[in-house]
Amino acid sequence: MKDRSKGVIFSVPYEIAVVRPIRQTTLDERAAALQAAHYNTELISQEMVYIDLSTDSGVSSLSTNQLAALTAAQSLEPGMGLAAEGSRSFAMLAEQVRSLFGFPYLIPTTQGRSAERIWMKLNVKPNTFVAGNMLFPSTRIHIEMNGAKLIDLIADAAHDLTSKEPFKGNFDLTKLEAAIQEHGSEKISCIYVELGVNACGGQPVSLANLKAVKTLAAAYKIPLFLDACRILENSYLIKEREAGYQNRTIREIVEETCALADGATMSALKDLLVRSGGLILTRDKANSQKAFMQSFLDGVQPASSAMELIATALAEIFAADAYVTSRVEQVNYLWRRLKDGVSLVHPPGGHAVFVDVKKFLPHLAAEQFPAEALAAFIYHMSGIRVTKGPPLAPSQIARGTELLRLAIPARKYLQGHMDDVTEAILYAYAHRNQIKGLSKIDDPARSKYDPPRFTQL
Ligand code: F0G
Repeated sequence: MKDRSKGVIFSVPYEIAVVRPIRQTTLDERAAALQAAHYNTELISQEMVYIDLSTDSGVSSLSTNQLAALTAAQSLEPGMGLAAEGSRSFAMLAEQVRSLFGFPYLIPTTQGRSAERIWMKLNVKPNTFVAGNMLFPSTRIHIEMNGAKLIDLIADAAHDLTSKEPFKGNFDLTKLEAAIQEHGSEKISCIYVELGVNACGGQPVSLANLKAVKTLAAAYKIPLFLDACRILENSYLIKEREAGYQNRTIREIVEETCALADGATMSALKDLLVRSGGLILTRDKANSQKAFMQSFLDGVQPASSAMELIATALAEIFAADAYVTSRVEQVNYLWRRLKDGVSLVHPPGGHAVFVDVKKFLPHLAAEQFPAEALAAFIYHMSGIRVTKGPPLAPSQIARGTELLRLAIPARKYLQGHMDDVTEAILYAYAHRNQIKGLSKIDDPARSKYDPPRFTQL
């Protein structure tokens, strides 16, 4: 029995109310599906997939409360337009967000990306720099679209896949201060901190590191913003790993984290258990007014039902720590089951388990697309979909890092699913010598943005 359970077992704080049946496919059917998808597992159709670990974003299960809120909002609430105050859904969301995250102003959006686009437009000036910790590709691109350059100042441990350092999302503070001095504080538009850094394994940022970043930001008068889409998982890992936080609640850690920032952008599709939605959070009234107008002009205001779903999820998530605990502990469970068998990114992160593909398939060269080849093999053998996930950061690509991301949707899969994933990955490892590389099909008719297509070597 777990110590923290105080004599009562309580691992899964929900029960299944509605399910989607899935059909078991055959090896031959999966071989045909793979061929049709040109060996790119991203292109395999949903009905041919058993367990889908391609993302944790927008794919978590809705609760009965959320379904009820969805029905009510769809039939009762008009859209928000410029009159946020007149919207019941906005009021519900605003009340939750202000009390939990502590920012006085919020601008709801359709997605994390739309929030970033607006926030960067308002806060990132041309010919400046943004200091970040291996930010998500869309964040980087929105920074670059405003004529600024992102400097990646994550600590070196993030690149050391086997390092046991508990907070591999942390900034290198020496490099951060050196960058501010080199470019001049007026040339740093902002410092952007991604919590639970996706690219390097869902690795957390410690509160000690964030406080030190805040001290520097304040000393040099540079705004500090968060990419807070995985703030819950980050907070849980702080509670688990950072000295002094074991007896704090997730809510308290979230509050303390947000209190250090001037603002935040947040996709609601990850930790907030919804299919669409994003947030801009700020303490700056004038900027919030501009951002609100821009969200109206861009047409990225969420539907009322989306706001009610987020508000309902927030109430459920923060009702007790059991939900976040079960969420991250499920990721941890898969990591623990795999760690002795295959090469993983250490330590376990908050939303996904990452496989170090170079060590898994040492016989395949980078030009043979080993991560895609491994994903194709796993799919063929098991029907389980895994992908590389979003593109890696430039600093990872420069080092030749090759990862496969097993992203675990929240509240969706059971331990039985995780056991099947374990079996599939261990099977792939035992048969790794049979895994053939891939070659990319060059088709001038396809754009560079189209998903790649491969043939087997
Ligand atoms: N920031 C981070 C850290 C993300 O992981 C994502 C999306 C976004 C911002 C953008 O948010 O999707 O709502 O526009 N990550 C997804 C993933 C796509 O699979 O990791 P969005």
